[in-house]
Amino acid sequence: MSDAREAAVPEQDQVRIFDTTLRDGEQSPGISLNTAEKVEIAHQLARLGVDVIEAGFPITSPGDFEAVQAISRQVEGPVICGLARTHKADIDAAWNAIKDSPRPRIHTFISTSDIHIEHQLQTTRDDVKGEAKAAVALARSYTEDVEFSPMDATRADVEFTAEVCAIAVAEGATTVNIPDTVGYTTPEEYTAYLRRLYELVPGLGGVTLSVHCHDDLGLAVSNSYTGVLAGARQVECAINGIGERAGNCSLEEIVMLLRTRRDRHGLDTAVDTRELARTSRMVSRLTGYSVPPNKAVVGRNAFAHESGIHQDGVLKERSTYEIMDATEVGLDSNAIVLGKHSGRHALKDALEQLGFKVEGEALRTAFKRFKEIADKKKQVTALDLEAIVSDEMRERSEAYNLAWFEVEAGSRREPLATVCVTLPSGEQSTAKSSGDGPVDAIFGAIRQAVGSDAELRRYEVEAVTEGTDALGEVTVVLRANGRLASGQGVSTDILEASARGYVRALSNALEGTAIREAEEATADAAVERTPGP
Ligand code: KIV
Ligand code: ZN
Repeated sequence: MSDAREAAVPEQDQVRIFDTTLRDGEQSPGISLNTAEKVEIAHQLARLGVDVIEAGFPITSPGDFEAVQAISRQVEGPVICGLARTHKADIDAAWNAIKDSPRPRIHTFISTSDIHIEHQLQTTRDDVKGEAKAAVALARSYTEDVEFSPMDATRADVEFTAEVCAIAVAEGATTVNIPDTVGYTTPEEYTAYLRRLYELVPGLGGVTLSVHCHDDLGLAVSNSYTGVLAGARQVECAINGIGERAGNCSLEEIVMLLRTRRDRHGLDTAVDTRELARTSRMVSRLTGYSVPPNKAVVGRNAFAHESGIHQDGVLKERSTYEIMDATEVGLDSNAIVLGKHSGRHALKDALEQLGFKVEGEALRTAFKRFKEIADKKKQVTALDLEAIVSDEMRERSEAYNLAWFEVEAGSRREPLATVCVTLPSGEQSTAKSSGDGPVDAIFGAIRQAVGSDAELRRYEVEAVTEGTDALGEVTVVLRANGRLASGQGVSTDILEASARGYVRALSNALEGTAIREAEEATADAAVERTPGP
């Protein structure tokens, strides 16, 4: 085991972390982040110390464009990257969205595999070469920081991919990323592929080689790691490993693999690993993708020892059964921070320690919520505070808001719920419904109050901390207005958390529809639409 933070690694041994949570991660089914949520995640990624934030794919919708632009204007530190196909309209949109960032990057891609060229692009290898050349040249006319990806590279002819990469390098690409788009390659195959590319493209040694691996066969982290050993100095990854289908390389896993085994390879990243657990919770909360308890590095059991032998060993000497320290990844933040009688200043200080700057009206609301919870719970922990503040921050930006609800229920009667929802117009709408249980009755009443025929797809309850007085966090995924949307709610009362989560999911579905309508209008006037990566 190494204590790898003691010495900084030389520049050539620094692996850059390119975070694609907000682009590839956001392409996961059912994830519907609004601009405010994307900006909140981007600020946290900057605090985590990632090198590049891929903030979105601006041509795909006005909502995506707006989010990338907001992140470019508000988030300082990392490079802010916008994705673009090789079309001129994509590159123009990416540039317009990122140009206000102090460190803008355009990432342009086109497939080099024959499967994609013949069936998806329906074009020729020569055309792909021409497209790549023109796209990199155009991107370079806007910014000095240009990344090129030959999509589906690992299923493509390496010689042809090399030709296309050589063109991209000649046109000025500063990073060349080799995607395992469908998660098909194996570690030894990927190593051989990257080595061959280095042989075939002499210019590759003068730019940053990057890896982008999907997890369809569970190999995303292993493949990314072998890529780094083969010479890549940028890893594309996402918090909690979210992304298309089975997801991307998990950021927290590759970062801790590099940090923990620096003794083996001498490489490291600039990530502040103590922010990993909090970033993971934030992304899970905002996307509705929960983290399995046994998830490496950030799962709630990642440092729990069940067997007596293991517990005994760790009590005597932690390193007997632990290769990392929970404090190193920020999983120790459940210490009690506030007592029942704490005042507003104490709350403000505690929130600042947790990375939240809450002032004015927001602080008053957070304090009111804290007092309500402190009355019901014996101890208010950092995890509780984080959950309620995130919950409050979201409340203010929703289309619908839960005003109040009542439920009559018991084991001998059919539950009856009455709810009152504030509509986007500011009017309040009240409705009643019975149901199979109290939660079903509440959901039925909310649907009537807002006039929706939403269909519930997923309902999950998790306790934020331990004990019967714990805050409950509910995730709701539903299909409404032709799209999947998720919402979360937090409260010591599971029914209230459920109602809040449901109302939020409906809000997200509503905002998503507005985006899609506008997107269709833009698309008619812009480029022909081919599916994204
Ligand atoms: O998986 C993929 O190929 C991508 C590219 C855009 C890099 O996401
Ligand atoms: Zn991808």
